Amino acid sequence: MKKWRLDFRVWHWIHATVILGLLGTVFLRKTFLSWRANSELITQKLSEINIEVTSDQAKGLATAIRAPMWEWHILLGYAFAILVLWRLLLFFTQSGKTNYQNFKEKTLHKKIVALSYIVLYAVLLFMAVSGLAIHFHEALSLTKDTAHDIKEIHELVYNAVLIFVPLHIIGVILAENRDEKGIISNMIHGGSQT
Ligand code: HEM
Ligand code: HEM
Repeated sequence: MKKWRLDFRVWHWIHATVILGLLGTVFLRKTFLSWRANSELITQKLSEINIEVTSDQAKGLATAIRAPMWEWHILLGYAFAILVLWRLLLFFTQSGKTNYQNFKEKTLHKKIVALSYIVLYAVLLFMAVSGLAIHFHEALSLTKDTAHDIKEIHELVYNAVLIFVPLHIIGVILAENRDEKGIISNMIHGGSQT
């Protein structure tokens, strides 16, 4: 029997891609497509050709430039919410449980890794629920203030994802090069149950 069933591997790689995509949209929103930076640029460049705009007008233009990019956050967000549900279903399969069984027999390192995955899953569930709540706040009859508060927490908790992703990638590369040969390729071809 394979360690990672085909559906688990497909889930892992789609999930990894979608999360990297979501982080990409956040990166763009906070850098090249930041409304603060771009509204200053717009004000300055327009004034060079003798067009004066108010700060609200410049902000409107900057957010309009950002909007098509940010639609990807929402589209990837829907995909991500489905992936979270898919992962919950995978807990009913052997591959989905494998890292969380025989906890007592695990080395301290493996215990920490398993716990970090559990914490991450809780974080991801929160990101999906809070993201959907912000996006559908009107349909859910949430006030703008509540939606704003949820957004602040969504943004704060995002830091946990930002920390996990590089640690995870560096972690599996180190493991591959030390005492867990094949850990990465197992997630590609499935490996075998030991
Ligand atoms: C792109 C480079 C990546 C590589 C090479 C990679 C590789 C792996 C490997 C080898 C495992 C199995 C490790 C083990 O058994 O402890 C794993 C598990 C996992 N990966 Fe990744 N991963 C990558 C990206 C990501 C990303 C971006 C995420 C998103 C947060 C992610 C989330 C997870 C999770 C949650 C598990 C635990 C699966 C379980 O519940 O057992 N991975 N990854
Ligand atoms: C791991 C998954 C996710 C991450 C890392 C993430 C990250 C973020 C971050 C950092 C922000 C704040 C951006 C800023 O103001 O600079 C944000 C805002 C937002 N996110 Fe997410 N998000 C995730 C999932 C989702 C999901 C599933 C949805 C729903 C479809 C969603 C919808 C939103 C919305 C509506 C905003 C507010 C945008 C605004 O105020 O204009 N997010 N997200």
